Amino acid sequence: MNDNLIKYYHDRAAEYEKIYSRPERQEDLQHAATLLQALFKDKDVLEIACGTGYWTERIAYTARSIIATDINKAVLEIARRKAYTNAAVNFVQADIYKLDSGKKYESLFGGFIWSHVPLQELDRFIATVNAQVKDAGLVVMMDNIYVEGSNHPIVYTDEHGNTFQERKLEDGTIHRVLKNFPSADFLKEKMQGIAKDMQVIILPYYWIMVYTL
Ligand SMILES: C[S@@+](CC[C@H](N)C(=O)[O-])C[C@H]1O[C@@H](n2cnc3c(N)ncnc32)[C@H](O)[C@@H]1O
Repeated sequence: MNDNLIKYYHDRAAEYEKIYSRPERQEDLQHAATLLQALFKDKDVLEIACGTGYWTERIAYTARSIIATDINKAVLEIARRKAYTNAAVNFVQADIYKLDSGKKYESLFGGFIWSHVPLQELDRFIATVNAQVKDAGLVVMMDNIYVEGSNHPIVYTDEHGNTFQERKLEDGTIHRVLKNFPSADFLKEKMQGIAKDMQVIILPYYWIMVYTL
């Protein structure tokens, strides 16, 4: 993950959650929230790249505790201002790649971060994520499926096969953002030999990958 991406999410912090108000995605978002609440029921959760806490808020209804982390102070400030029901929620500013792997969690959630990991860094990302989780622990990742007309078009593909979009913020700045859209087969192949009990749930706008270690 590069500095451009981190700056983009810093600059987007205040307008970030507008993405969750798209009318065509409401049914999927509700479906995903219900699913995540069932998966994380009574669990201690490490959340990576939590952003403004949209999913933290939803998972908190059923989880026991959440340590929610993100590299960007600007998004964490927004997340910290929200009220969380039921779970004990704590926010920590942290780079995914510099998390303390001495402490292991019984479960981990990463929403909309996989798509921003360059293909050539995915193995390191997966190893880093899994290192945070206890044996037999649960890992859940969620991200976008490319839907013409709902997602920004792909404007560029690099030599590794990474795809890029151009996104405009409300201040008028245009950012070229790495955004990959893996297929269910790609995810299954990538996790072969690493993940147990793997499932990829495909909704019209999102995929949700669930596995244990
Ligand atoms: C697409 S947003 C997802 C936010 C949130 N999970 C959600 O689904 O609403 C991606 C987030 O990843 C964070 N991020 C990017 N690189 C990171 C890194 N190396 N370590 C931790 N967080 C990172 C950004 O700050 C941003 O908040």
